[in-house]
Amino acid sequence: MTQTDHLSFDVLIIGSGAAGLSLALRLPSDVRIGLVSKRELEEGNTLYAQGGISAVLDASDSVDSHVQDTLDAGAGLCDESVVRMVVEQGPENIRWLFEEGVEFTRTPVTGNSGYHLTREGGHSHRRVVHAADATGHAVETTLVRQLDAHPNVSVFEHCIAVDLVTADHQQGRRVQRRCHGAYLLDIRSDRVVTASARCVVLATGGASKVYLYTSNPDVATGDGIAMAWRAGCRVGNMEFIQFHPTCLFHPAAKSFLISEAVRGEGGRLLLPDGTRFMQRFDERAELAPRDIVARAIDHEMKRLGVDCVYLDISHKPAIEIENLFPTIHQRCLELGFDMRKQPLPVVPAAHYTCGGIRTDRRARTDVNGLYAIGEAAYTGLHGANRMASNSLLECLVFSEMARADILEQLGRDDTPAFDIAPWDESRVSDSDEEVVVSHNWEELRRFMWDYVGIVRSNKRLERARRRVNLLHHEISEYYGNFRVSNDLLELRNLVDVADLIIQSAQRRRESRGLHYNIDFPDRDDNQTSPTILIPDNYVPRRAEN
Ligand code: FAD
Ligand code: SIN
Repeated sequence: MTQTDHLSFDVLIIGSGAAGLSLALRLPSDVRIGLVSKRELEEGNTLYAQGGISAVLDASDSVDSHVQDTLDAGAGLCDESVVRMVVEQGPENIRWLFEEGVEFTRTPVTGNSGYHLTREGGHSHRRVVHAADATGHAVETTLVRQLDAHPNVSVFEHCIAVDLVTADHQQGRRVQRRCHGAYLLDIRSDRVVTASARCVVLATGGASKVYLYTSNPDVATGDGIAMAWRAGCRVGNMEFIQFHPTCLFHPAAKSFLISEAVRGEGGRLLLPDGTRFMQRFDERAELAPRDIVARAIDHEMKRLGVDCVYLDISHKPAIEIENLFPTIHQRCLELGFDMRKQPLPVVPAAHYTCGGIRTDRRARTDVNGLYAIGEAAYTGLHGANRMASNSLLECLVFSEMARADILEQLGRDDTPAFDIAPWDESRVSDSDEEVVVSHNWEELRRFMWDYVGIVRSNKRLERARRRVNLLHHEISEYYGNFRVSNDLLELRNLVDVADLIIQSAQRRRESRGLHYNIDFPDRDDNQTSPTILIPDNYVPRRAEN
């Protein structure tokens, strides 16, 4: 970060995963872009994506089939027009990545696209293009490299957005809210600076760190969702948190995922006595959608009182395993498991935030000038359960939609002038009790896991509600009195997001997709609307095309 206290851009992009990077690269070179990331540019969920990106690339596959599989996985809550739009744009987005230099696995083994297509749960065809088992690494590092070629992107690493800056303006007879920028904390110098921009884009990823066990890296604290909510944006479907069925169960394997593609290529789930069980829960067995597989594993672990189940692909030729899953195989070897010869111990863990900031088909939020893309957004694509490998696809398609709208917006030049006030630290002091932050962080993640996890009940949700209310109160007080730090900001955001998840879960009085409540165990086909939460400070946006 430079020594200035005020930065100014045409477009401020907060987040440097697949969503933020692809938008930055797609904007023309005369647009001044600020790209902010709270750790190194590469760090985020994208870097760890394994399985791949779904797209209709094989002549025997079809858009209708991909659409139908997504709708089935989404359990009646997807917006079909959004699903179709995303699926139709899949192939051109894979082409774009390829042109940027992403090297996908190519083999003549399957299909006629030139790419090796793997399979994952819910997909009725092989349609997942991948770079072995480290697709996210290939995508993220390639796009970061391409930034060098963009002459107008200023990058700010280790810089965490604190809050959005908005103002209400009279437009005709209506008041309209507009986003003018954000406050950013430079983590290394502890300074808060202002950044103004005509368009601000939240590409901040998901919120799975709200749970004790997760496949996500530490940055996934739902910052964008919490900031947008505080700024007056509606959020949708926050009860639908996806638990990935198979994370490696090992004390040293923090967050390590065993890709669903392992099951796609024939991996079987086993109980400790070696018997298969998924066929008792769904005719698609190991390739049923994730909500079904994760719930089945949770059920069997509780029924038998065991710590994990097992994933076995050792019946496949060793060479195939080494070629398709080199990263997973290597990491497992380091931890003492040889997947070519033995089953791997696995457990479910929080993986993906299906809900988020409500956006329209052009990635616009409820606040003028503010966009949300990627995992932070709720677009209507995933419904009650995201189908595997549809997330990176969504990042790419919606960054393109945002690009088109942002260029129109920049061309209109109707942004009201606004001076952002400098950050005020006159009434705060240095914290004397950091333990409050670390303790509350731990408590929050534990009760969310215990009470708002794979299986919920009215009583558990009520318990979680009482605890989150208390934490809200404590953290607001702390935030008001002490200088901001990265940990405090993330905790404040996690508490807001936990609150939104609990509120949404309490509103849904049925079980559907990823939301399972033992007090309402059945799906109720009268409840086919998304859960939309409206903040107290919501200002409806003027209708636009
Ligand atoms: P991220 O890639 O998470 O990026 C978020 C960015 O925002 C980061 O740069 C972060 O530092 C920054 N940020 C956050 N808050 C702030 C703040 N306050 N200030 C500044 N910066 C901030 N999906 C698939 O489609 N296929 C897969 O194979 C697949 N595998 C996965 C495997 C794993 C282990 C995980 C965790 C996820 C996987 N997913 C997969 C999901 C997918 O990776 C993510 O949904 C997707 O990468 C999200 O991209 P994003 O750009 O929205 O966010
Ligand atoms: C995986 O490889 O299992 C993750 C795929 C996804 O989350 O879409």
